[in-house]
Amino acid sequence: MTKNYPTKEFIENLPKAELHLHLEGTLEPKLKLKLAKRNKIAIGQETIEEVQKSYQFDSLSSFLNVYYPAMNVLQKEEDFYELAWEYLKKAKEHHVKRVEVFFDPQAHTSRGIKFKDVINGYYRAIQNSSELGISADLIMCFLRDMSAESAMETFEQALPYKDKIAGIGLDSDERGNPPSKFFDVFKKAKEAGFHLTMHCDIDQENSIEHIRQALFDAKVERLDHGTNIIENPDYVKYVKENNIGLTCCPVSNGFVVEDMKGKEIIELLEQGVKVTVNSDDPAYFQSYISDDLYAVAENYFLTTEQVVQLVKNSFEIAWISDEEKVEYIQLVDAYVDSFNKVKAI
Ligand code: ADE
Ligand code: ZN
Repeated sequence: MTKNYPTKEFIENLPKAELHLHLEGTLEPKLKLKLAKRNKIAIGQETIEEVQKSYQFDSLSSFLNVYYPAMNVLQKEEDFYELAWEYLKKAKEHHVKRVEVFFDPQAHTSRGIKFKDVINGYYRAIQNSSELGISADLIMCFLRDMSAESAMETFEQALPYKDKIAGIGLDSDERGNPPSKFFDVFKKAKEAGFHLTMHCDIDQENSIEHIRQALFDAKVERLDHGTNIIENPDYVKYVKENNIGLTCCPVSNGFVVEDMKGKEIIELLEQGVKVTVNSDDPAYFQSYISDDLYAVAENYFLTTEQVVQLVKNSFEIAWISDEEKVEYIQLVDAYVDSFNKVKAI
């Protein structure tokens, strides 16, 4: 049988789920300038080109050094609402039907912003997402380069808003900050009924040990990035058997480790692991989910069938009911059928 390769148009219109996206990573230069003006924050940049020029990084830590200071423009509940709403509109353009998005409260509370302003702003946007035909949930992440005590305080601040948060994650600089540092707070979060996930970033010191801790000690339901798992066949078998998905972000990987890790994504896909493709911080890497999918498809010669499997995996590992999973997968199948019919005419 001849192989069929997807076009950009096919990928853009494919119904998708986005499971690895940092809301703060969707701060486009235009919105950054608008918020800076509205909140009278001096950012030292006046044009979109100047903001873009400041987005220079070649590692996770150099990326984070640009990423956190940019958040100063986010001051009021309305700003958090606008950031999330602008992202959701963009997601609709990319035919995203389901989003589970990260946010970093400590990046804001540590500069004097109230937790309630962050969560209420983001949640209002999430609540309105049905207007765009998108179902959405929030994942609250702890910053792993802050203390375990700060994570616990943040967890306690979040408890009154429990109904507004679906899951708990862990992000920021992994170097020297293993999952074990946060076991207590993750244990509490699990007992309180939150879903759990954790970043296991690419090619970190002790990557495999961090993956082991995340899977077997913290008992997360997903790994964010996590492609180093390929180095340990027993762990690959474990995630496969336990339906634990990996949320990979190829374009982001290309920036921070100069390798999209497409080879690993394909190998894991072929072994039946629920790998998925996502965008991480699209405003910084100038790549939304369709661009990420197209980038791996184009660079690693993925077939249409492989791209469709990646997208179905996202719905399968999403934190939604089994009935919803079936409905979304039927939507994907119907799209593929209709695309093939048009092609055959
Ligand atoms: N925060 C935003 N993007 C991140 C990433 N790729 N890894 C860790 N923390 C992040
Ligand atoms: Zn991430």
